[in-house]
Amino acid sequence: MSSTIKVTVLGAAGGIGQPLSLLLKLNPYITELSLYDVVNIPGIAADLNHIDTNVKINSFIRDNNEPKGTNTQLINALKGSDFIIIPAGIPRKPGMTRGDLFNINASICNELATFIAIHSPNSFILVISNPVNSTIPIFREILNNYGVFNPLKLFGVTALDNVRSNTFISNLIDNSLPKDFNVPVVGGHSGHSIVPLFSQLDKSYKILDDNNIYDALIHRVQYGGDEIVEAKNGNGSSTLSMAYASNKFFNIIINGYLNLDNNNNNNNNCQISSYIYLDDSINGMKELKTGLMEILKGTKLEIPKYLAIPMNFDINGIKNVDYKWIDKMNEKEKELFVIAVGFINQNVEKGLNFVYK
Ligand code: NAI
Repeated sequence: MSSTIKVTVLGAAGGIGQPLSLLLKLNPYITELSLYDVVNIPGIAADLNHIDTNVKINSFIRDNNEPKGTNTQLINALKGSDFIIIPAGIPRKPGMTRGDLFNINASICNELATFIAIHSPNSFILVISNPVNSTIPIFREILNNYGVFNPLKLFGVTALDNVRSNTFISNLIDNSLPKDFNVPVVGGHSGHSIVPLFSQLDKSYKILDDNNIYDALIHRVQYGGDEIVEAKNGNGSSTLSMAYASNKFFNIIINGYLNLDNNNNNNNNCQISSYIYLDDSINGMKELKTGLMEILKGTKLEIPKYLAIPMNFDINGIKNVDYKWIDKMNEKEKELFVIAVGFINQNVEKGLNFVYK
């Protein structure tokens, strides 16, 4: 483990990138923060650099005069990164699904994944760019084609689904606080592919026995992003809550990476879900796939190649995936999960078609 930690944010000038960079500038474990974007980044870096924390900020902006395929600034931003966090790409406008972002964001991810594969292949890679269900397969294929894919270190950031679940259930339960909850969320990261597992909380809550309330809660988590897209009325999607969620996810990873005590974590819990490639080499994967086979039996659906699942972290990345949630799902969650897998498999195909078209 290096005694210094360099984090690079690609898309750092954006709605998520800016508040995320601010949160990272406050992180006591980071030594260097490298901020890259295609616009506006010098001013943002100068502003952050006035903050009296120890994180050193370097900024990089694409030089549009360079020939296509070369990008010295991006290469310099990436060099020596331990962690790369990627909120680059266009966000949704009212009426758009995450799928509508596909063409533009797939091209951006294609470019960034290629540079990472060549110039910083050993980094942890945390992808925020939507649609996550399809952008992670793009990253995986490109890294794999360069022979540098490490299944323990590529993550689709789905933490906002956990954050929303904790907040929304707390809103329903008298005298509770969001921090009392850590709802596991599995599946994918859009609409019906998101499956919050409220049945797996430490306590059961009577209010959720009411089907209308339970269904509305699930729907709110699945489509919570739409509330923000509509409220912002054409000016983007979730940015502040997403910056918080990605920073929460990063903190849980870094706790595992540095083998820190859980109490350093705001949520007092070191497990969180992320959307990953289900590689057989990952601890717990055999048991997970056996459980998936059982659930999908009789459905014609193939076992997904990618899934958001709860996991723990260590210095190498994923320490193990949790598979116990499968047996603990209630009937409703099982139904939702099967629907989710149908969507995920289509979204993965879309990502693969983009790479091999
Ligand atoms: P934004 O448009 O405010 O910021 C995106 C930034 O990416 C801009 O500064 C832009 O200049 C930059 N960018 C564009 N092309 C680039 C390239 N080739 N290299 C580097 N940077 C590039 O968008 P916002 O709101 O920050 O959202 C970013 C992405 O995150 C979107 O795809 C959005 O859908 C996604 N998102 C993901 C969430 C999740 O839970 N995973 C939640 C909310 C948004």
